[in-house]
Amino acid sequence: MLLEGKTIIVTGGNSGIGEAIVLAAAAEGANVVVDYVAHPAATTSVIDQVTAAGGHAIGVDADVSRLGDLYRMIVAAVNTYGSLDVMVNNAGVETRTSILETTEEQYEHVLDVNLKSAFFGTQFAAQQFMKQGTPGLVINISSVHEDWPMPGNIAYCVSKGGTRMLARTAGVELGRHGVRVVNVAPGAVATPINAATIDDPATLKELDAGIPLNRLAHSSEIADVVVFLASGKSSYMTATTVFVDGGIMQGSVGL
Ligand code: BGC
Repeated sequence: MLLEGKTIIVTGGNSGIGEAIVLAAAAEGANVVVDYVAHPAATTSVIDQVTAAGGHAIGVDADVSRLGDLYRMIVAAVNTYGSLDVMVNNAGVETRTSILETTEEQYEHVLDVNLKSAFFGTQFAAQQFMKQGTPGLVINISSVHEDWPMPGNIAYCVSKGGTRMLARTAGVELGRHGVRVVNVAPGAVATPINAATIDDPATLKELDAGIPLNRLAHSSEIADVVVFLASGKSSYMTATTVFVDGGIMQGSVGL
């Protein structure tokens, strides 16, 4: 198994891409730590699925936009499984609002959940790896919108643009300490965040037409890349982004 004995934290691991990462990592032998705040029942269900399949996972009651809660996830991982190997900063939200309508409350919520948690998740994980004296990996689940404007979703784009520079700058700062930072940037994925699009056949058709592979990704296709990165087969990758987008960034709308 690719992740046998490794301990991995997945924030936002009870839904969408995060849930797929939890299931894929556990299936490859990892010990997985998942937070819950929004949907505790969903977390219980993910953990039950992992356990039923013979894997190892625990849930931590943590709002990852609060630093104390985020830190408790690291402590829980180390106390339960002995050390931390991979930190996946995945938790993310979006408001689908433009520059003219986004409120302060919406801005703070998106930036805190998406960027602040990834920033301090990277910091806390790096400190833990250095304390352990082991190499470590931080994976931020970013988006094609770390580099590509999405009009009408500006706070999200700003947060993901931040994670782009987080991976690059933290990757450079931490390389000498044996800590790597890599972003995974999905395109359009069939997850709850895209429910409004998926439920509207005309909008979905238009979106599919702009994707060279002509369909949304399955969340497991993003999780597969995370497993590869976490597996030890990616040891020369840092301070960069892996795009997993079906070619959407190179596609032309209306193909
Ligand atoms: C956003 C989705 C969007 C997709 C492709 C994702 O990062 O969360 O709302 O459909 O990018 O543009």
